[in-house]
Formats: sequence, structure tokens, C-alpha cells
Amino acid sequence: MADTKEKILITSALPYANGPLHFGHIAGAYLPADCYARFERLKGSDVLYVCGSDEHGVAITLSAEMAGRTPREHVDHFHSINTKLFETLELSFDHYSRTTWEGHVKPSHQYFTDLLNNGFIEEKVTDQLYSEEDEKFLADRYVLGTCPFCAYEEARGDECGSCGQSYEAIDLKNPRSKITGASLQRKATKHWFLLLDKFKDKLTAWIDSKNWKPNVVNFVKSYIDELRPRAITRDMNWGIPVPLEDAEGKVLYVWFEAPIGYISSSQEWAIQKGDPDLWKQYWCDEKTKLVHFIGKDNIPFHAVIFPAMTMGQNQAYKLVDDLPANEFYKLEGKQFSKSDAWYIDIDDFFSKYSADQIRYAIAANAPETSDSEFTWKDFQNRCNADLLGKYGNLANRVLVFAHKQCGGKVPELLDLEEMDREFQAKIQELTEAIATAFSQYHLRRACRLIMELAQAGNVYFNDREPWKDSKSEEKRSRMETTIALCLECLKTLALVSSPVIPESAQKVWEFLGFESKLQSLNWEQVLGTKLVSGQELKRPEILFKKIEDEQVEEELTKLQSLSKKQEEAKEIAIEPIKDLITFDDFCRVDLRVGQVLEAEEVSKSKKLLKLRVDLGSEVRTIVSGIREFYQADKLSGSKVIVVANLKPAKIMGIESEGMILAGAFSDQLKLAGIQDLPPGATVS
Ligand code: 2FM
Ligand code: ZN
Repeated sequence: MADTKEKILITSALPYANGPLHFGHIAGAYLPADCYARFERLKGSDVLYVCGSDEHGVAITLSAEMAGRTPREHVDHFHSINTKLFETLELSFDHYSRTTWEGHVKPSHQYFTDLLNNGFIEEKVTDQLYSEEDEKFLADRYVLGTCPFCAYEEARGDECGSCGQSYEAIDLKNPRSKITGASLQRKATKHWFLLLDKFKDKLTAWIDSKNWKPNVVNFVKSYIDELRPRAITRDMNWGIPVPLEDAEGKVLYVWFEAPIGYISSSQEWAIQKGDPDLWKQYWCDEKTKLVHFIGKDNIPFHAVIFPAMTMGQNQAYKLVDDLPANEFYKLEGKQFSKSDAWYIDIDDFFSKYSADQIRYAIAANAPETSDSEFTWKDFQNRCNADLLGKYGNLANRVLVFAHKQCGGKVPELLDLEEMDREFQAKIQELTEAIATAFSQYHLRRACRLIMELAQAGNVYFNDREPWKDSKSEEKRSRMETTIALCLECLKTLALVSSPVIPESAQKVWEFLGFESKLQSLNWEQVLGTKLVSGQELKRPEILFKKIEDEQVEEELTKLQSLSKKQEEAKEIAIEPIKDLITFDDFCRVDLRVGQVLEAEEVSKSKKLLKLRVDLGSEVRTIVSGIREFYQADKLSGSKVIVVANLKPAKIMGIESEGMILAGAFSDQLKLAGIQDLPPGATVS
């Protein structure tokens, strides 16, 4: 029999492995994709959901340089951090790869070579930005300058942080190095350009066939109008080498190869499944539905450039069908920003709240049609009023009642009255609406309807007042019907909520006496199979913890005070650099490693400590103004750096025979020291 399952290939934008993910990413490209993948699997679709770390390009090398790591160390570090985060968040990727996987090279080269042979890539010598100081070309985010569109002076080399336009670094006015601030010169170099303008007609016809959000279509159409050749190689040694002989020192531009990561991730998945061609069943079948979940800043590459690349190469790969492009997600009214300390520490967050609380709160407020924001009040409200007050409350009261009055078993559904039928109809109507919302990527609406279903159950239970019926024998069957219907509602609720809160949904499923994995079942089958009367129910446990007002206050205070501290630190003027000295001047200072033998407070001084310091050849007394920062009894054994040839001076009546070095910034002070060298070692 032919396989009639719909094939759905789902991707989430590959995150750069250059820092921990933040909520904006989760709300934009990951959680909505995961909920959609889970829903479609339940509906019986044949889903392949892939993602991976984006590990090349300037975003990586620059951030690695700043962190003092090699690019390899840097991507290994963040690939592992982000993989763990995705596990904690219970994202159900079928495969999570990385663009440094060796298998990613082959499809990237295949795209390049096909496009070149088909006349869509051209070699050109053009001016690029060169740093005399570093003796190398700088591109993309290594460059800062004035935006050619809006004149913003701090614009990045690839796109403007102020007006959002994307361009090439060479288009910037007054370009300078991001690292040293030195101005950059134009210098000729050879690169390969993707002739995007050749795809205009094909892309326009293709876009016209799409039923995408009007704002996405309009944006894409005007982007297509402006298309011109774009350099797709860079002078760098971190990346995928250009597959040509005369291209030494050149790699593919990260945005050329990153989207091909969706294909290579699927290929790695197939290899690990033991059937290396399996990925073709998705990528090479016209009937597959390809859905890219992205943040809105990634629209041009997914709606125009990657489709153009795919149109111009030789394999029959799918083009994107749907592009749920999410808007921005803010924190308490402002953009998330690590450098302004306006963020939530993800590890801390996950240690305090459950994955389902986090998933639901973000999903219910996802930035689908306009920017949205995470606020602690909203988080508390979603967790307490919705998850606990509606969902958890229904599960708890119905199951506790069934244990008390129905012997802990599913009772029989007997004569239905109008009100019962209405309740059944409501369950069905909401279930259908939830399925439609999920299938159309309306996650917020799905969440709202799920809670409406829980609330419909609570209202029915209240209105039916089964506790009154339980008191008389002749009304027992009435009570049993009420509880049987409430349990049906819970069963449906577990099913429809499982794409968003999989762990809690599974628990409710098990409370109802099932042992199977809800996620492996089929939507229609679960709905079509009534609970069997007599089925043993489990005793319910608490599903969600309440979030107290004090907790929210504490989180808000922490956020505000961290950001205030950061602002203050930024405002502190950096000491100006002193006048130049010669090398000989510097050599006159004799710096030595010393080891503190003992330290004591200098009486009548709030600031001074008296130290005995071993310099290898002798022991010195040194008076130092570090008492506010270091406790005397904790210093012995520490290695410090001593100015050994400073003239002795009397401080508070004590002769000080040298000085120890320390770094100072704002209200902080830290002693300098070389821990691995013995006392007396020279420092220069
Ligand atoms: O903007 C970003 O974070 C990119 N790393 C997204 C890449 S998506 C895909 F094309 F790989
Ligand atoms: Zn701009």
C-alpha cells in the first residue's frame, strides 16, 4: 500500500555557536517549531525536524578572539552549552548537527560548483576593506562604520543595528576595525559573486504562488527588486574552503553554507539511522512540505537567497513552502542585552521553574504577529492562573473526586442530558480549533484555546455539582456521568496540550490509567477511543508549583539592580593613558614575584595592611592600602608582584620596603600575581 502520510520537513534557524541562547531565540525559532513538530507527529504526519549549530563566519571568529579561545574551542564550548539547553527545554529535534561536521563540506561544495558551472557564480576582482595593521582583509562584523542608508555611525559590516538594512562592508562610510578602531583602506582582491539578479523573474513568479503573510511577501518582493550580485567568499581561514585551485586562503561566506546545514543535518540523521539515502525521501520529494522557523531578521536569506541558490544548482531539492517568521521578543519592555545586563540567566531560570512552565509561558505569548515581551508578572500569571488555576485545578479536582466517590475507576457514561451534550460539543469544537491553530502556526491561539478547554471542564464540573449528586443513591448515575465526561475532557486536554507541555500532559495521561507514551499515539485515534469504564485511575500529584509574589519581586529587583550596576560601571571614566616612557625607563623598575608570609591590620587605619613578603633572597615589610578588599588572615601564601627597587618610605610609622601591584576599576581592586613562579622570579 502506498504511504499516504504527509511528509513535513521542519527546520529551526541554526543558532551561532558563539554564546548561550536567549529567550528571544527560543520564542522565535525553536519553541514554535518544536510545538508544530510535536503536533504534526501526533496527527500522523511523517515529520523530520532538524537543526544544528552555525559554526563558521565572522560571528564566531570575532567572538572567539574576544573570549581568548580558538574558533574550534569556542564552537565546541557553545555547541555543548546550547545542546544541553535544548535538551532541558525538551526540544524534539530528530537531529541536531553542526556545520563543522565533515559531511557538511560535500553539499556546500556541490551547491558552489553547480552554481558556478551553471553561470550563476562569477569571479571578480573588487575592492574590499584591508587593515594595514593586521595585514589582512576584514569583512562583516570585523568592520564598523557609518550606515549608507540611515547614517548610523556604529553600523556593523553586514547589517545596520539601527535601520536593519543589510549590505556589504565596503558600502559603509568611514569603515574602521571593530577590534582596534583603526581606519580601513580599500584594496583589490579576488572573490566569487552569486549573481542574484539572474534569479529575479523566477523568484518573483515563485513568491507570487505563496500564501505567506502580506508583510513577508511585500518585504520579499521589494528585496527581490533590489537584487544584485553578492560576494559569497571571504578572505579567512576558518570556514569551508572554496573548491577551486586558485582560491587559497578563501572560504565560503557563512550565509552561503549555513542554510545548506539543513540538508547536511538531514544527511547526518540518515547516516545515524543506518540508511544514508533516507534524507532524500524528504528533500527530493516535491510533495514534502518544507517549513523554516526563523526570526524576522533572517527572512532575506530564507525567502530569497537560499531559494535562489537551490533554484540554480542541479539537485531536485525542495524550496521552502511555509516561512513562519517571528517578530522580536523583549524583556520587560527593552531588548534582551547581555552587555546592558538586561537578560535572564537561563541556567538559573531552569533551576527554578519547570520546562513546561517556561514552554507554556513563552508559547502563550509568542511574538507571532507583533513584537511581544517576557515580563515576570506575565510569567507568574500564566503559571498560576492558567497552568495551576485552570489546567492543574481541573485534573486535581476531577481525579480526587473520582477516587473518593467512584472507587478510583472510570465510571460509566449513562444518560446524557442537554447540558452534557453541550459540553461534549464544546470539547469537540475546541479540539478542532486547537488543531487548526497548531497547523497554521498560531501557537498563541492554540494556548489560549487549550486553557479555554480546561476552563470549560471546570465550569461544567461546577455547574453539575457532582458533590450534591453523590449524596443520594438515585442520583449516583448522574454523578458518574458527570465524572466520566470530566475525565473525557481531561483525556482530550492531555492530548491537545502535549505539543506545548509534554511532561505535564504525559502525567495527566498516566493519571487516567494509561501506560503508553502519549507522544507516540495518534490524534484521531486518541479522540475516537472513549475511556473504558472500570479503568483504574492513578492518584493525582501536583502538576505545577505556585509562583509567589515575593519570588517575582525578587527576580525584578535582581534584574533592575544588575542593569543599574552595569550602567554605573559603563559611566565610570577610564583613566587616561599616561605620557610615553622609553623602554629603558621601564627597565629601571625591578618587578619580582613575592609570596605573602603573613599579613596584619595596621591599627588606627581603615585602609592599610602590613605584609611580610618573601622575595626569595630576602623578606620585606610592605604596607599596602588593600584592607577594604582583602582580609589579612586570608592572604598568607598568595603570590603577588612587588616593585622591589622602590625607595623605602614610612607609612603610619612603619617602614614600607616596596609596593605590591593591583588592578583597580570603579569600586573593585584585585591583586596581581603569578601563581606558578617562585618568590624572587623577575617580571618584565
Ligand atoms: O542569525 C543567526 O543566528 C544565524 N546563525 C541563522 C542561520 S539560519 C540558517 F540559514 F542556517
Ligand atoms: Zn542604517
